[in-house]
Amino acid sequence: MRIGLVGVGRIGAFHARTLLGLDDVDSLVVADADDAAAQRVAAEIGAEHAGDVDGLLGSGIDGFVIAAATPAHAELLRQGIAAGVPTFCEKPVARTLDETLELARLEAESSTPVHIGFQRRFDAGYQRVRDAIAADELGFVHTIRANTHDQTPPHASYIPTSGGIFRDCNVHDFDAIRFVTGQEVESAYATGGNKGEQFFVDAGDVDSGAALLRLVDGTTCLVSSTRYNGAGHDVRLEAMGSKGTLTAGLDDSLAMRSAEEGVTFPPGPGHATFMDRFQPAYVAELTAFAAVARGETPSPCTVADALQAFRTAEACDRSWREGRVVPLAEVADL
Ligand SMILES: NC(=O)c1ccc[n+]([C@@H]2O[C@H](COP(=O)([O-])OP(=O)(O)OC[C@H]3O[C@@H](n4cnc5c(N)ncnc54)[C@H](O)[C@@H]3O)[C@@H](O)[C@H]2O)c1
Repeated sequence: MRIGLVGVGRIGAFHARTLLGLDDVDSLVVADADDAAAQRVAAEIGAEHAGDVDGLLGSGIDGFVIAAATPAHAELLRQGIAAGVPTFCEKPVARTLDETLELARLEAESSTPVHIGFQRRFDAGYQRVRDAIAADELGFVHTIRANTHDQTPPHASYIPTSGGIFRDCNVHDFDAIRFVTGQEVESAYATGGNKGEQFFVDAGDVDSGAALLRLVDGTTCLVSSTRYNGAGHDVRLEAMGSKGTLTAGLDDSLAMRSAEEGVTFPPGPGHATFMDRFQPAYVAELTAFAAVARGETPSPCTVADALQAFRTAEACDRSWREGRVVPLAEVADL
């Protein structure tokens, strides 16, 4: 297969390497608004280069991968869908709820498949939690704890266009909670704070956040995020039930140390970035996208799916700004 990829920043250059390593992919062509960066990455990894997105879409590609910055997603998704090329797009779908709704409608009217990049759906631990809940191994699940704790912040210019910590980071947790429980969110209360660099304050964002969600079936979810987890990249989901508790991400590289005498778990070292924490999941999700692009399987995570995670992020953003519980019913849906 021939794949086109736009956006060769942190995740785009990583996805480009992953794609070239897949048996399914014979050739890769990359583009970026920063053409020099696209040329440099293409030369480094042995990919082709296109000067712009029209050139990329017109170069005979079987699949289109969008890994550009979040504000570019909506227009690039429209272009991919209009060209009829199966499209993978990094989370979040778009920067705003209105754009996300518009793209969900466009997806529904189109026959072009769209796969949104929530890689935790392809992580073995998250899949085991989902399977255990579905098989009633945990009894009734009363509480979920989920977190996205980055070791260090992204570059300062990333933050003002990221959509804020709930849409940028916790949106992964919101999708994962929906994925493992099969439940929708009923209400959200969120808060956050800034103790780190000034650019978070300047962007009207928080560098650490927390949300308390109630699911429609009465499950309570405690969700947290930070850009400053010095111990390492810590991403986990714990499902606690009447018969048992199961945790995704509780591995030997957990970015945490016990205060108890004689306890040596986890042996470490901790994960440093999302790239090393989720490397197998990224391979699995791009392999799945190749199957979607060949028409063998439907999208495993549609814009309509991603819209629901975005609505929760939207509710959390409103909640911390306005200091109140936000019912999901007040956030626009399809
Ligand atoms: N799934 C994950 O684990 C994960 C991890 C990191 C980032 N992301 C998502 O991936 C996207 C990129 O994040 P990043 O950390 O790589 O950002 P980045 O800032 O490192 O890179 C963004 C790249 O997009 C390019 N770009 C911006 N606008 C463009 C346009 N209109 N056309 C073409 N190229 C354009 C920039 O020049 C840059 O090279 C974001 O949407 C982010 O939310 C997902």
